[in-house]
Amino acid sequence: MNQNKGFYITTPIYYVNDIPHIGHAYTTIAADILARYMRLKGRKVFFLTGTDEHGQKVERAALQKGKTPKEHADIMVENFKTLWKGLNISNDAFIRTTDEEHKRIVQEILQRLYDKGEIVKRKYSGMYCTPCERFWTEKDLVEGKCPDCGRDVEFIEEENYFFLMSKYQDALIEHIEKNPSYILPETRKNEVLGFLKNRTLGDLCISRPKHRLEWGIILPFDENYTTYVWFDALVNYYSALKYLAPEDVEWWPPDHHLIGKDILTTHAVYWSTMLMALELPLPRNIFAHGWWTVKGKKMSKSLGNVVNPSEVIKKYGVDAFRYFLFREVSFGLDGDFSEEALIRRINNDLANDFGNLLNRFLVMNEKYMKGAVKINSIIPRSEATRNLYSDNEFLSSFKSLIEEINNETLWDEFKFNIILEKIWQAISLTNNYIAKTEPWKVLKEEPERLPLILFNIWNAIRIITVFLYPFMPETANKIWYALGLRDYIIDYKMLKLELDIKEAKTEKIEQLFPKIEIKTEEQMKVEKGEEAKVEDLISIEDFMKIKLKVGKVLQAERVKGSKKLIKLIVDIGEERQIVAGIGEQYSPEELTGRSIVVLANLKPAKLMGVESQGMLLAATGEDGKISILTIDREVNAGAGIK
Ligand code: MSP
Repeated sequence: MNQNKGFYITTPIYYVNDIPHIGHAYTTIAADILARYMRLKGRKVFFLTGTDEHGQKVERAALQKGKTPKEHADIMVENFKTLWKGLNISNDAFIRTTDEEHKRIVQEILQRLYDKGEIVKRKYSGMYCTPCERFWTEKDLVEGKCPDCGRDVEFIEEENYFFLMSKYQDALIEHIEKNPSYILPETRKNEVLGFLKNRTLGDLCISRPKHRLEWGIILPFDENYTTYVWFDALVNYYSALKYLAPEDVEWWPPDHHLIGKDILTTHAVYWSTMLMALELPLPRNIFAHGWWTVKGKKMSKSLGNVVNPSEVIKKYGVDAFRYFLFREVSFGLDGDFSEEALIRRINNDLANDFGNLLNRFLVMNEKYMKGAVKINSIIPRSEATRNLYSDNEFLSSFKSLIEEINNETLWDEFKFNIILEKIWQAISLTNNYIAKTEPWKVLKEEPERLPLILFNIWNAIRIITVFLYPFMPETANKIWYALGLRDYIIDYKMLKLELDIKEAKTEKIEQLFPKIEIKTEEQMKVEKGEEAKVEDLISIEDFMKIKLKVGKVLQAERVKGSKKLIKLIVDIGEERQIVAGIGEQYSPEELTGRSIVVLANLKPAKLMGVESQGMLLAATGEDGKISILTIDREVNAGAGIK
């Protein structure tokens, strides 16, 4: 291998149409774990993540919020950056597809492919799914609807630019077959091969007429068209190296493109053939992980079951979350998230197995050795007669576990749950060593052996901590300090059993993983104030008394002398004047033209002397900010709401 070849790992770049959820966190933490492990091993690492900001989804989300796409993206990007900080993500760079440099490189690549005859203009007709921004053939459709999202498609005929992807079909099959770890896990590889072998690969439409998609990169050879969002997005893996990566290291080709299973085709087929056309070496590996469901159901906004990682880490701590995600399921398969399962892992693995080991050791070492650790302790042969338990047996089992855990293939193939299982075997082995040697008895019976036993335990915890570092960096650092290793960095040299250091002094530490009381679902609901007592329930007749209507805001202005109040003239089939306390979050300008939800049969009341003939519906977030309910498709003013 080229000595100067750095380790290059990427995550997908995330759409900025929504706030980050557990799925985004999952891919990014996985990349972080491997990046940290490779740095630990002394490799130069470039770990890239970022945001995908062009395309209709983002354009539409911005429009709904009354913002330009760039304004909207600037706000949404911060959500990702903040979450990555909270999750201790050690990315080396953050790319945005709205970066000027990226846009220039996309154009350069388009021009290069166009000049080479790899991109041509063609008349095209097909069934187009607007939400997915994709053309489908009649055959692809499922009962006449988009096979991806199940929504209506429309027939569109227009001229467009095509990347001649079809001609690379055989070369791609050959590449995948010759490089068994190009696509992992194996089931995903077989899926892609099956797809490629059983159908004729078409060419890829890489442009959108500008009138249909304005929020995108203009084709350098035809200003009437913008670039298909996936073509623009995939190039990020290449463009980032041109302006965000250290130049003195060779990064290409990437070692891993980490993605979710839903975006496998775009990577394994579109990206691979784009690289072939550009005559660039293909990445070493594309790894597609599974999806998280919540209590067996797909996460969706409408079900209200989307797991927000910020909330989970606020409640349970970042490292418990990181640990859970990779211990609970094999990376590659689907997994099911529930707070109960997370709590079980915290209580059993972190508090019981590991937390107890650490606490017992620190307490004993403080009590028996006043915190001192005599590193590389040995006992004279003659004295080593009454071994209650063979230290050597422990050490040799521990050593072979170190080798197993440090097996680079396990890491390189993202076998994270196996690695964690093995780390926990090392933890049990050490717990057993304490149980069998019974240091409290050794203290009385052969005190000269005690420094050795405590050193062995210290050493075992130290190595376990090095291995845990990629998964739980914050916890590992705390333990490192408690072990008295403040002056040393955690790196691969620290994986050896023998150390150059002579002595260390252990320090007290707060309990890292306190046990959490397991609550039943009912108890949790009561806690969240979600419980519905029977006497609180209302009948459908009660509900029908409430007249909710779609209202179109015709005019809006501030109520004089009030920061909060805005007076709205709303069309709900008839004109109504409504006064609402939303002036701190909304300006009159951004309200005009919106379709909102109005409680139409509310008794009129006066607010600061101005009459309000109804009420608009809004939610108040935890931060006290108000968010009004809007209608996300065109519906006539005055339409009833049930
Ligand atoms: N912008 C594209 C990627 C372009 S890469 C050149 C995109 N963005 S995304 O924001 O929709 O999400 C991307 C990642 O989130 C994918 O890896 C996807 O698999 C992952 N997840 C989305 N929901 C998920 C779960 N419920 N569970 C696990 N991961 C899931 O696609």
